[in-house]
Amino acid sequence: MNKILRFLTLLIFVITFTVACSSETVEILKDVKVVKEIPVDKGGLVIYSGRKESLVGSIIEQFESISGIKVEVKYGSSGEIASQIMLEGNKTPADVFYAQDPGAIESVVGMFQALSPTTLEKVPDWAKSNEGKWIGVSGRARTLVYNTDNVKVADMPKNLNDLCDAKWKGRMGWAPTNSSFQTMLTAMRELWGEDKALAWVKCMMENDVKVYPKNTPQVEAVGKAEIDIGLVNHYYLYKFVLDAGEGDKFKARNFHLDSGGPGSLVMVSPIGILNTSINKNNAQHFINFMLSEVSQNYFVNSTREYPLIEGVEIHPLLTPLSEITKANISLSDLSDIQGSIKLLQEAGALPK
Ligand SMILES: [Fe+2]
Repeated sequence: MNKILRFLTLLIFVITFTVACSSETVEILKDVKVVKEIPVDKGGLVIYSGRKESLVGSIIEQFESISGIKVEVKYGSSGEIASQIMLEGNKTPADVFYAQDPGAIESVVGMFQALSPTTLEKVPDWAKSNEGKWIGVSGRARTLVYNTDNVKVADMPKNLNDLCDAKWKGRMGWAPTNSSFQTMLTAMRELWGEDKALAWVKCMMENDVKVYPKNTPQVEAVGKAEIDIGLVNHYYLYKFVLDAGEGDKFKARNFHLDSGGPGSLVMVSPIGILNTSINKNNAQHFINFMLSEVSQNYFVNSTREYPLIEGVEIHPLLTPLSEITKANISLSDLSDIQGSIKLLQEAGALPK
């Protein structure tokens, strides 16, 4: 009996493995086919990337080997790259700008061409430019990460203003130099107005919010109960829970506010093609690849970001995007990051 059971288990394993492998091959082949439908420009492809090499280097390499297109990548912060593109003007060698957030592309949006309708229809409306000038590749949700020993879900705040309550005094963290935090603040200024946004930053400081250099140490601090709530993006938690295998031993989880306010902003990493690109076909191949199932699964499994095309499954521990009440704002309206930095300086949250 036992032998039969073992044989059946083995058989199921072999079948599953074979199916998994062959469907992966089909996916890659499908991508190669997509790449061959459009001609390839001889000039290769110059990507200006505001996303770090450690995050996207390997998926760009995969594109290079599948497509045979020679890729050159310039890495930097999204803001630096936007300034460089502005400075280079018509002479910029960049074919595409792949940014960390839409604000950077929006600040030079006049230098981008409209993407084709077939490209744009791959992602939902909220995840692309109002004018069709950029398209999101992957999504990141703002979230409150909380310590599961010290905070009950029922006691969590309903919106970011609730964090000004005395009961959270000395129990919170934030990373004001982090660009996603600054984008969230930009959404807050749009939704609440400058005065309320400034008042919120000040009340958080009066509530002794602890300053972290970035998000990972903030999430770690929540896991260790050094603080009880952190203001971060959703994926940092999974570095500990999934990637480091800590599971339930890691005493923190994400909480998605459902007020539709800035605390539930979902951002995307967008990509756009420069007007002046001399390798527009190659740029199109790259965008097709980034929105293929291969790349979208890469983001799901490596950066733990949200896929933006249909039919790609996320890890069951993540809250599905469809269950997140996204901030009631267009991502095209989040270009004034500089204004948010100024506000943080005015409040004393950042040095002048
Ligand atoms: Fe991040």
